[in-house]
Amino acid sequence: MNKFILSGSILSADFCKLEEEINTALEAGMDWIHVDVMDGSFVPNISMGPFIVETCKKITDVPINVHLMIEHPEKHIAAFAKAGADNLTIHIENNNNVHRTLQEIQALGCTTGITLNPGTPTWAIKDVLPFIDLVLLMSVNPGFSGQKFIPHTINKVIEVKEMIDAIDSHAVIQVDGGMSVETLPAIYQAGARNIVAATAVFKHPQGIAAGIKALRDAVA
Ligand code: DX5
Ligand code: ZN
Repeated sequence: MNKFILSGSILSADFCKLEEEINTALEAGMDWIHVDVMDGSFVPNISMGPFIVETCKKITDVPINVHLMIEHPEKHIAAFAKAGADNLTIHIENNNNVHRTLQEIQALGCTTGITLNPGTPTWAIKDVLPFIDLVLLMSVNPGFSGQKFIPHTINKVIEVKEMIDAIDSHAVIQVDGGMSVETLPAIYQAGARNIVAATAVFKHPQGIAAGIKALRDAVA
């Protein structure tokens, strides 16, 4: 449960050579593939849909963690589950029936994730926490990779860790946005055991394998 999990966000991958880049990252020690789904409405950017999850599933068997930054996620979870998603992570901010959507995710056979934007207080997830496998704390405002880490996230990790421990939950804390060798150690120390990195993995100046090694070394 305390194992450190490195999720690589393919948002920063070169899609001309997606298979090659994913395989390089996996060989270097990436644990999960993080798929950032954006609709141009909940967040300002538009990215990818279920077919990319299907593509990733053809490449590898490692868990696929789908981060749904979309309005009405409940309309799309079945398609992502069918495409091969292992985890479906929804936002707390845009869903009037979060509890129901989480039940639907479980019924689809996927693990559940709940996300909080930087401006959302941690208490907002208190009542759904018993149904959660993964709490994703956004450390940037969602929409783009390559943004600057928001330090207040460290306090939120500590708060969520206390909430998780208080109910003896198995939920893992994931942090997403601006993760690098500089920002990762404090997040890890605060209790996060899963981080998402796009730029630090797929755009590392010395290459993907060097990016992964640097992140792993930062928590060794
Ligand atoms: C932001 C996405 C992140 C993003 C992270 O909206 O949810 O997963 O790809 O990118 P970096 O690691 O570059 O901050
Ligand atoms: Zn993400």
